[in-house]
Amino acid sequence: MRNLKNEVRALHEVVIEKTSFSGKGLDALGKQVVFSVLRQFFELQAITHELLDKPLNQKHIDLELLIMCGLYAVDHLAQPVHTSVNAAVETSKAFNKAWARGLVNATLRRYLRDAQNIRHKALTSDTAISNHPDWFTTSVQQYWPEQYQHIIDANNTPAPMHLRINCQKISRDNYMTKLEAENLGCIKSQNSPHCLTLMEPVPVERLPAFNRGFVSVQDEAAQLATLILKPVAGDHILDACAAPGSKSCHLLEVEPGIKLTSIDSNSDRLTMVQDNFTRLGLQGDIIHQDLLQIDDDQLACFDKILLDAPCSATGVIRRHPDIKLLRQANDIDKLVSIQRQLLENCWRMLKPEGSLVYVTCSILPRENEHLVAAFVQQHTDAETIDIPLSIGHRQSPGYQLLPTVGSHDGFYFAHLRKTSASIML
Ligand SMILES: C[S@@+](CC[C@H](N)C(=O)[O-])C[C@H]1O[C@@H](n2cnc3c(N)ncnc32)[C@H](O)[C@@H]1O
Repeated sequence: MRNLKNEVRALHEVVIEKTSFSGKGLDALGKQVVFSVLRQFFELQAITHELLDKPLNQKHIDLELLIMCGLYAVDHLAQPVHTSVNAAVETSKAFNKAWARGLVNATLRRYLRDAQNIRHKALTSDTAISNHPDWFTTSVQQYWPEQYQHIIDANNTPAPMHLRINCQKISRDNYMTKLEAENLGCIKSQNSPHCLTLMEPVPVERLPAFNRGFVSVQDEAAQLATLILKPVAGDHILDACAAPGSKSCHLLEVEPGIKLTSIDSNSDRLTMVQDNFTRLGLQGDIIHQDLLQIDDDQLACFDKILLDAPCSATGVIRRHPDIKLLRQANDIDKLVSIQRQLLENCWRMLKPEGSLVYVTCSILPRENEHLVAAFVQQHTDAETIDIPLSIGHRQSPGYQLLPTVGSHDGFYFAHLRKTSASIML
């Protein structure tokens, strides 16, 4: 019988210690359980509170998390319900509380007896119904009222697996043939010429020639950043917040004749950039630097800059459901301040007549068009370049894609050109 102790520990790390879910120490099923409990967290928590006669003390949070794992297993795992209940009951013995076993057993069995009625009573608040924190639903209702349900549904549905085919090694059509030979169905993206969408996600080891660098995993919308920047042979390009390097790699795959400098402030994540370059057979300069501080000799040196700024990640919640528990409303002010400073510094690193693509995986206008509009207003040498996309929402300035069931993640793009005029102070 499966013990759910590792799953409870992983949930504890996110919910109480507020650290990102890494999946470390969990097998595939364990990751699925934790990932799904995080995705359905507010719903499962409301049901657990409805089932318990009185709320558990905070010091017993692990038991509450165990019950939530049990509820998920009962409803979603392809095994008899009593196997799921027994697994949770067995796990409860590890908590060294004499009463825990009886409580977990009684709570899950009560759910099995009367699930529909209990769900009906529990799922009354916006938080429980939407499975999102209040600050997020309030923001989405404010900024995207017509798209609200579309966004919530997308965030609550597992994302498709998009591949980026390394066009230096194989064409998309030929890679599609390789996938089909392995019985891996896929369709061509309409939005990126390098993208295939798998019908079913698979571990990367099952992707033909993955280790030989034929393919990477990257969302379809994320691939648009390179296409918008349009690398040309001879360009000196800065990928300003580069780690783990997906966009750096895509830039080099599309145009190996560029000189690429990839900078990031996180040294651990930077090692992933080098690993990706090695696997894909690409070359670029990798620099560890906090771009909130730049040197004089870095001014006006780049023809093009990709600034994929750190952000709320509200466009990729379906891929990182821990964001719903980790991100707080007041994080946005801090992020906006960092994004502004990074944009300001990157602008100083851009040559006159150069261009910059500002990207976030946020759907919040404050991190996106509000920030870029204010920047353009304050800089007489900044002008916007139109982004010709046939999907998403044109903003002023820039373009917003919202997370979409069966399709791309939520991303914002703005494309700016630096004229020769001086900066207004
Ligand atoms: C959205 S991620 C970048 C993803 C990456 N562009 C890719 O496509 O693989 C944002 C990155 O910004 C980096 N970052 C955050 N603050 C930074 C700073 N002050 N200077 C440089 N990099 C920073 C983070 O370490 C993180 O790797």
